[in-house]
Amino acid sequence: MHVSTMVFLLTAKIEIVLTLINVIAVADEIIDTTTTTTTIAVPVPPKSIDISRIFISPGLGNTVKLDWGTPLPIQPDTTYWIYYEKDDDELTSPKLTTTNTSVLISDLEFCTKYKFAVSVAGDGNAHINQNNVRSIVTFANRTATPKDFRVGYEPREVPCMLVEWSASCPNVGQALGYVISAFQHSTSKYVIVTFPASTRSDFTYRMKVAHGDKFDVKVSTNFPGSKPTDTMTFKVPGFLQPYNVKISANEENGSFMIYWQEPYLPYYVDRIFYEVRVYKGSNVTAAAAENYYVIRPVMVYKGEGIEYTFRVRAVSYDRQFWSPLTDSIVANIYGEIRLLEEDKRK
Ligand SMILES: *[C@@H]1O[C@H](CO)[C@@H](O)[C@H](O)[C@H]1NC(C)=O
Ligand SMILES: *[C@@H]1O[C@H](CO)[C@@H](O)[C@H](O)[C@H]1NC(C)=O
Ligand SMILES: *[C@@H]1O[C@H](CO)[C@@H](O)[C@H](O)[C@H]1NC(C)=O
Ligand SMILES: *[C@@H]1O[C@H](CO)[C@@H](O)[C@H](O)[C@H]1NC(C)=O
Repeated sequence: MHVSTMVFLLTAKIEIVLTLINVIAVADEIIDTTTTTTTIAVPVPPKSIDISRIFISPGLGNTVKLDWGTPLPIQPDTTYWIYYEKDDDELTSPKLTTTNTSVLISDLEFCTKYKFAVSVAGDGNAHINQNNVRSIVTFANRTATPKDFRVGYEPREVPCMLVEWSASCPNVGQALGYVISAFQHSTSKYVIVTFPASTRSDFTYRMKVAHGDKFDVKVSTNFPGSKPTDTMTFKVPGFLQPYNVKISANEENGSFMIYWQEPYLPYYVDRIFYEVRVYKGSNVTAAAAENYYVIRPVMVYKGEGIEYTFRVRAVSYDRQFWSPLTDSIVANIYGEIRLLEEDKRK
């Protein structure tokens, strides 16, 4: 570059700088002569920040850990506000304050959806951007009672008692084992079945049992201090015995429909029919009984009375096999149904 050109450039730069200073000086003079300024501290509400990690603390299904790292433009000793509510509620005011960049929120409700937000602490409520709100569903309470507990029956060559239940929460989280306890009346012994840990939520256990056996059954998780279901007493139907007998009444024409489920037929029993006993009223004495015979597991009965008692049994065609009678069910034409006290003649 030529020396004269360089000198020219330098001069030009100085001139420009000088010109700017002049303009500023002029501007200052104008402001000074026309206005007076006062300083008002306008509070700037803090803004929510991104939560980089959210998870449920191992072993504690109702403790949530939030982590928001260190956002670079923020000072190292910043104080943060933590907002959280159940999913349907508004994130109105912070519940926790910390100078850490992570927080552990414990004692939440189990099996519940919560939402979370984090902001820098400041004046006024934070402006929470919906994109910064994170949510999570807490896990099952590991000691809570299983749900939908049922005991049923599956007729087979070796009869099966079906024990069914669901986890207390569909979002089980950490694998959970179960214990079935079945007190057997005939032996006065407990049958204990342990179920391996699983995150499944629906369970069915087929317990091989003997005809006519009676059990008091309950289920709990295998977690220390767990709370079992109510005890359900179940009587296994006898050999060839019909089960799940149901009665529906029709008030208009005074008729009853009696129907039931069919027993398992072993190969050596060729065919069966059903004997339906109908007693007038609820006095179950042989003298008061009328017997009806049907082939299909349903019968319609129409009498003159208001109330009747019904029992059913199966009989093989060759009359070699007779099942026990089912328990006495009392029904009236208004549809009221009850079980008569345990029948002593069985
Ligand atoms: C911050 O973190 C430390 C160590 O991780 C912990 O001991 C402390 O309780 C935390 N403080 C708050 C307010 O969460
Ligand atoms: C967990 O379940 C147990 C047993 O039902 C109950 O006593 C306890 O209160 C439950 N805990 C919570 C936090 O809900
Ligand atoms: C009584 O009425 C119901 C329906 O209204 C019918 O299904 C049933 O067959 C009737 N029973 C008799 C015995 O008439
Ligand atoms: C039931 O019927 C029998 C025979 O008819 C009778 O001796 C008995 O007293 C009746 N019982 C009741 C509770 O009505």
